[in-house]
Amino acid sequence: MERILVIGANGQIGSELVEALSAQQGPNSVFAADIGARSLFGHPNYETIDVLDQKRLERVVDNHSVTQVYQLAAMLSVTGEAAPLTAWTLNINGLLNILELARQRNQSGKPLRIFWPSSIAAFGPHTPAVDTPQLAVMDPTTIYGISKQAGERLSEYYFSKFGVDVRSIRYPGVISYKSPPGGGTTDYAIAIFHAAKRGERYACYLGPETTLPMIYMPDAIRASIELMEAPAERVRTRSAYNVAGLSFNPRELALAIKQRVPQFDISYQLDYRQQIADSWPRSLNDTHARADWGWSAKVGLSELVDDMLENVDVEVREHQAA
Ligand SMILES: NC(=O)c1ccc[n+]([C@@H]2O[C@H](COP(=O)([O-])OP(=O)(O)OC[C@H]3O[C@@H](n4cnc5c(N)ncnc54)[C@H](O)[C@@H]3O)[C@@H](O)[C@H]2O)c1
Repeated sequence: MERILVIGANGQIGSELVEALSAQQGPNSVFAADIGARSLFGHPNYETIDVLDQKRLERVVDNHSVTQVYQLAAMLSVTGEAAPLTAWTLNINGLLNILELARQRNQSGKPLRIFWPSSIAAFGPHTPAVDTPQLAVMDPTTIYGISKQAGERLSEYYFSKFGVDVRSIRYPGVISYKSPPGGGTTDYAIAIFHAAKRGERYACYLGPETTLPMIYMPDAIRASIELMEAPAERVRTRSAYNVAGLSFNPRELALAIKQRVPQFDISYQLDYRQQIADSWPRSLNDTHARADWGWSAKVGLSELVDDMLENVDVEVREHQAA
């Protein structure tokens, strides 16, 4: 039986991952961890962990006989630009601490399987922007993207050198309604629903034609769990897999909302985030994920917009990242 630790469980993705894993594995097999003193989502098996504290990490993994770790603690693209060195330290040393722990445990016959997400931010302005292949030029421009690219190299290194079973996905922008986004460039695609539900006009910080790869949370969670469940020999990419959900721009998203909320209106007030978005792909080629472990996205734009409008909670404000 697997015993699973999710670090970053108070965050946008971690909170829903704990829920999904608990439903699948039983709540006693899943441990939620974050740097905060308590679970913001009422997760029963909660541990306070600073992922930079290697000793504490080791203790929790030992105490609960953990067999899988999802390491989601990170600073994202927008918050990272505000504090680049802090972002680098957290994103890289957090990953290294887990990889090192797994390396040591391999030697003592107690292997640890690791999930660590990369991002489309690992790509850059010279990456082919449309149908971006799995293997492409990567010249990220943000400290966040640089940390993700370095993390991909570290993951592949720990796999090939030490046999650490680490798996990763380059998440597109993740859209969800249960918890606020964590300060990324794609947050507009969540904030826009809050404005529509509040009956407010939305001032978008990206231009109308800025197409970006996105994924709806249920697909993102399913992709992560399916990759972790795949037989090791099927996981042939040990840097990070491209995984496509859907691609759209603010104009298309606003139109889809307006078809359902006729009074909804959008205006455009571009800021520095435009430059970040312009350096990222518009759509991803996920042939490798499909061939290796059977990935296929389920949720399209129409279903996403219906579901977001039905469920988004106007009390949950978007992250004040800027
Ligand atoms: N959300 C997206 O659209 C998106 C897209 C691409 C990649 N990702 C990646 O997915 C992962 C999770 O993203 P998210 O959106 O849920 O982020 P988030 O900011 O919502 O959550 C991150 C969590 O990490 C916790 N944390 C911060 N420092 C910590 C530390 N030292 N020790 C332990 N916990 C700490 C925070 O308290 C927070 O709860 C990140 O690695 C991120 O880079 C997210």
